[in-house]
Amino acid sequence: MKRTKVVDAFDASLYGTKVNVKGWVRTRRGNKNVNFIAVNDGSTIKNIQVVVDLSKFSEAEMKPITTGACISVIGTLVESQGKGQQAEIQADSIELYGGADPDVYPLQKKGHTLEFLREIAHLRPRTNTFGAVLRIRHNMAYAIHKYFNDRGFFYLNTPLITGSDCEGAGAMFQVTTLDLNQVPKTEDGAVDYSEDFFGKPTSLTVSGQLEGELGAMSLGAIYTFGPTFRAENSNTPRHLAEFWMVEPEVAFNEIGENMDLAEDFLKYLIRYALDHCQDDLEFLCQMYDKELIDRLKFVVDNDFVRLPYTEGVKILEESGHKFEYPVYWGADLQSEHERFLVEEHFKKPVILTDYPKEIKAFYMKMNDDGKTVRAMDVLFPRIGEIIGGSQREENYDKLLARIEELHIPMKDMWWYLDTRRFGTAPHSGFGLGFERLLLFVTGMTNIRDVIPFPRTPKNAEF
Ligand code: 4AD
Ligand code: MG
Repeated sequence: MKRTKVVDAFDASLYGTKVNVKGWVRTRRGNKNVNFIAVNDGSTIKNIQVVVDLSKFSEAEMKPITTGACISVIGTLVESQGKGQQAEIQADSIELYGGADPDVYPLQKKGHTLEFLREIAHLRPRTNTFGAVLRIRHNMAYAIHKYFNDRGFFYLNTPLITGSDCEGAGAMFQVTTLDLNQVPKTEDGAVDYSEDFFGKPTSLTVSGQLEGELGAMSLGAIYTFGPTFRAENSNTPRHLAEFWMVEPEVAFNEIGENMDLAEDFLKYLIRYALDHCQDDLEFLCQMYDKELIDRLKFVVDNDFVRLPYTEGVKILEESGHKFEYPVYWGADLQSEHERFLVEEHFKKPVILTDYPKEIKAFYMKMNDDGKTVRAMDVLFPRIGEIIGGSQREENYDKLLARIEELHIPMKDMWWYLDTRRFGTAPHSGFGLGFERLLLFVTGMTNIRDVIPFPRTPKNAEF
C-alpha cells in the first residue's frame, strides 16, 4: 500500500479512506481499552494520532510501541473528535520496524534542554525543535537559490581547498597529506611541501569571494553557497568553525547597489520563511520566543538604516553607555557595539559603511579620503553582523599597493590580480552567514542549534 506522509494526512478529502502512515512514536497514552499513539515522520511539526482499540491487538504487539520506536500503521483516516487535532487514524494493523528500549533511548516524552540535545546531535533531529529548525534551514537554502535564479544570477562552485587566504585573518585550517610525525624539511629547516599532495601549503577556504570575483567578471552576476571554515578560537553563540556562506558578486554594481541587493535579499528570505514555514515558526514562537514572528515582520516592513562607520562611532561615544570594549575611531566594533546601534539606538537593522581601511580586508575599494574603504556590514537585532561585504578595488595599481603594504604573498595572488589587468570593471559583493540568518529566522540563541552537526573548538563529534 502506498505510504501517506503525515503532512498530507490532514487533507479532509482523504477522510474515510484507508491510509498507511509510517513514522516514529512520540508518545503513547491511554487506558486499558484504547491507546493513542502520536506519530511523527519529520514531514511536518504535526503528529498524527493513531487510535488503537486494544481488543484488536495483543499485549505482545503493543509492548514495544514506546517513544522512539518506528512503526507502520494501516487504518482509516477520520476527522478527529479530540480537541486541537484535525485528523486521526483508527488502526487496523501496526507493524513494528524497530523498537527503542525506553531504559536507554535518550529522548523521552519530557522536554530536554538544548544543551543536553547538543550532546546527542545524532538524535536531536527527532525532536520538535530540531525538526522545525531543520525544515526552516532547508526552506531558506531553497529560497536562496530561487532568489538568485529568478534574478539571473549563476550558481558558481568555488573550491574548498585553496592556496590563498581571502580574508587575510590567518584563521585557516591547513590541509596536508604530509605525515605529521615525520614532516620533511628543506635544507634551511622549512617544511618541504614538495612531497605534499599539492606540492604547496593549502588550507580549507574561509570564503569563496576571490574566485567569485572571477565569476562576476565573466558571467556578470554569480553567487556561491557552500561551507567555509575558520579556525578562530571564538567560543561564542555566534561563531562556528564550519559554517555556510552565501556570496553574491556582481559586475558593475557599486556600493549603493550592493546595499540595495543585501537589503532586498534579506527581506525576501525572511518573507519566504513567513509564507512557507508558518507551522514551524509558530511552534518556535510559542516555545522559545514570543516576539519572533512580530520581529520577522518588522524587518520585512521597514527600511534598514544606512550609516557611515564614523557616524556610528560618534553615536556610540556619545551614548554614555558602558561597553566592555572601548569605542574610538579605528576600533573594530564588537557585537555589543553593533547590537547597541541596532537594538537601543535605531531599533532597526543598520548597514554600517565606510570603515577604516586598517580593520578591513585588502580587496576593498579605497574612498577618496584615503582612510576609509567602501565596506558594508549589515547589523541585525540579536545577531550583530549578519552580512559583510564591499565594493572591490578594481584599480590594478591601487590593489597591488595594498597587497604589498599588507605583505600578502604575491605568488598566491597573480590570478586574482589578472582580473584587474585584463578588462577590469567596478564590482561588488557580500557574504551572508547562513547560520546567522537562521539564528534570526528561528529565534534560536546559539548557533550550534541551527546546524545539524556543529563544529566548534574541541568539538567535532558526530
Ligand atoms: O565578514 P566576513 O568575514 O566576509 C567575508 O568572508 C567576505 N569575503 C564576504 C564577501 O564579501 N563575499 O564573513 C561574512 C559573513 C559574516 O557577516 C557572518 O555572517 C558570517 O559570514 N561569519 C560567520 N558565521 C558563523 N561563524 C563564523 N565563524 C563566521 N565568520 C563569519
Ligand atoms: Mg565581517
